Amino acid sequence: MSARKIIIDTDPGQDDAVAILLALASPELDVLGITAVAGNVPLPLTQKNALIVCELAGRTDIAVYAGCDAPMGRKLVTAEHVHGKTGLDGPQLPTPQMALHDGHAVDFIIETLRREDPGTVTLCPLGPLTNIATAFERAPDIVDRVQEIVLMGGAYFQVGNITPAAEFNIYVDPEAADIVFKSGIRLVVMPLDVTHKALTTAPRVEAFRAMGTEPGRMVAEWTDFFERFDKEKYGSAGAPLHDPCVIAYLLEPDLFTGRHVNVVIETGSELTLGMTVADWWRVTDRAPNAMFMGDLDADGFFALLTERIARL
Ligand code: RIB
Ligand code: CA
Repeated sequence: MSARKIIIDTDPGQDDAVAILLALASPELDVLGITAVAGNVPLPLTQKNALIVCELAGRTDIAVYAGCDAPMGRKLVTAEHVHGKTGLDGPQLPTPQMALHDGHAVDFIIETLRREDPGTVTLCPLGPLTNIATAFERAPDIVDRVQEIVLMGGAYFQVGNITPAAEFNIYVDPEAADIVFKSGIRLVVMPLDVTHKALTTAPRVEAFRAMGTEPGRMVAEWTDFFERFDKEKYGSAGAPLHDPCVIAYLLEPDLFTGRHVNVVIETGSELTLGMTVADWWRVTDRAPNAMFMGDLDADGFFALLTERIARL
C-alpha cells in the first residue's frame, strides 16, 4: 500500500515538534512538505523551528515553507508563556543548516493540491488555520481536491485554554477556522477534549529519555519545559501532547473515539471569539461537519509515539 500523502501546517511549539518527528519516523506517511505559520511564536521562529525538527529527524530532504505571518484579519496572538521565547524552549537548540524552500507556503499548498490527483492529499494543520484558509480563498478550485483535513484545535467539554471559551489555534484566527469548518471537506478534529487525555506522565517522559538518542533526549527536555504550564494551570499529571494526536490518528485511527457532529466557529462575539460550538448532543438540525474526538487510548498512543521516536 502506498504511503499516505500529507502536508503538515505547523507553528512549532514543542508539541508540534513531537508531531513532526512522529510523522517523519513513520513510513506509512509521505510528507510532501511542511508549511510554517505564525502562532505559538512569530513566523521567523516557527519557520526556523520547523527546520530544526527536520534536521533532528535526519530529514534535510523535507521541503519547509514559510507561510502567513499574521491571521487573516487580526493581530497575531502568541503563546510564549507556554512554549518559551524560542517556541522550543527546554534544550539548547542548534542553528539549522538547511534552508527554507523558495516560495510561499500558501502557493505550495495550492500547487501541490493542483498537481496531485484529487482526493489523495491530507492536510494536517497543527496551528492557526491561516495558511489553509488563505489557500482556499485564493484558489477555491483546490477545496474539492483535498482528501481530508485532520487538525488539532477547538474544545467543547474542556472549554478554552487561551480564553474561557476558546482554544488557542482557533482563537488566533477564527475567521480562518470558520472558512475551514464551512469548506465541506471531510474534517477530523482533535480538540482539547481528547488532547488533555494524552498526558506526558513521568514514566512516559523517561521512556523518551531512556532511548539514549538525540531525538529522545530533545523530546524529553521539550516535555520537561512544556509541561510546567499545564501542570500548574490544571494540576495535571503532565503536559497534553496536543499535536501528535493528529499524526497518531493517521497511523492508528482506532486509538481515538468521537462523534460526527456540527461545529460552528464563533467569529462575532468578543466574549466567546474562537469558540468551537459543537452540537455534541445534537440539539439543533445543523448538519454534522466534523468528526470531533473525545477520547483516546492513552497507553496505546504513547506506545506508538515511543516506538516511532525510537526509530529516529
Ligand atoms: O491549544 C493547543 C494548540 O496551540 C497546540 O497546537 C499548540 O502547539 C498550540 O499551537
Ligand atoms: Ca501547534
